[in-house]
Amino acid sequence: MPALKAIHIDQPAPRVRRIEFVAADGGSLPGFTAGAHVDLELGNGEARSYSLLNDQGETRHYVIAVLREADSKGGSSWLHDHLREGDVLQSSPPANHFALSEAGENSILIAGGIGVTPVMSMAARLKALGRSYTFFYCARSREEAAFAFELGERHGDRLKLVLDGGDPARGLDVAALLAARPPGGHVYVCGPSGLIRAAREAARDWPKGTVHHELFKGSEADVAIRTNDGAFDIVLKRAGRTLRVPADRTILDVLKAEGIRIKTLCRDGVCGTCTVTLVSGKADHRDDVLSEDERETAIQVCVSRAMPGETLVLDL
Ligand code: FES
Repeated sequence: MPALKAIHIDQPAPRVRRIEFVAADGGSLPGFTAGAHVDLELGNGEARSYSLLNDQGETRHYVIAVLREADSKGGSSWLHDHLREGDVLQSSPPANHFALSEAGENSILIAGGIGVTPVMSMAARLKALGRSYTFFYCARSREEAAFAFELGERHGDRLKLVLDGGDPARGLDVAALLAARPPGGHVYVCGPSGLIRAAREAARDWPKGTVHHELFKGSEADVAIRTNDGAFDIVLKRAGRTLRVPADRTILDVLKAEGIRIKTLCRDGVCGTCTVTLVSGKADHRDDVLSEDERETAIQVCVSRAMPGETLVLDL
């Protein structure tokens, strides 16, 4: 597990902190590919995932950018209020659930707000490979588009800045943009769930494996428990046990109460850490990580539930 030392912190936008880390021991860092993230252990005991915005292959430093979230539960606010240059944090090695398909002939990159960070690395990689790409950077205002200036310098007219002034009706027309797939086209979307859903819907007829998305924390995931939720049963196939999930508890809560350990990180259906194999039963999937195909055989137990009247059989 690399220890990272913060060596430079600046504020490219009023609510955004950019943090540059190097290896605390002065050595080189594990390499990464565009779209990768690291999980940082913060000084308050919380852990959070952050995308690396610098160029693929750099092993001298990692750079992240953190938006101060209005409802921060201690991730972004800790990094804004407590992290100082010289501080050391533990980090996972880089992992990538949002990888670039380097063979794609035409890439459409769509970033909403702070979701721009992994897309910055992807655009740099596509440029280095000499591929065709267009980079839509959506934000409320120029002031909030933290990286607009440097991205404009780097990508010229391939960067399209879309400023909606807080009115989604004035934002990017994703449906029109993705109505026709360009030859060899891939689309990459990172930002709030509304943007991702709009892109997935617009590109629903594109071939499998050409629509890539990553939800950014701070954008709302579906809530794990809703007022009209009911209780349901889960069957732990390997343990040969049946457990009841009450209306006001998640599957994760019930498993934990039974002493069954499931690795978690976000607990918001965003990170993909708590995946459990779904053997049978119709699930009400509320995550933003599993594809439609994956949902046949997997479930994120931190947020997802059973459809009414269903029992879920889990490989536990
Ligand atoms: S803990 Fe992140 S998806 Fe469940």
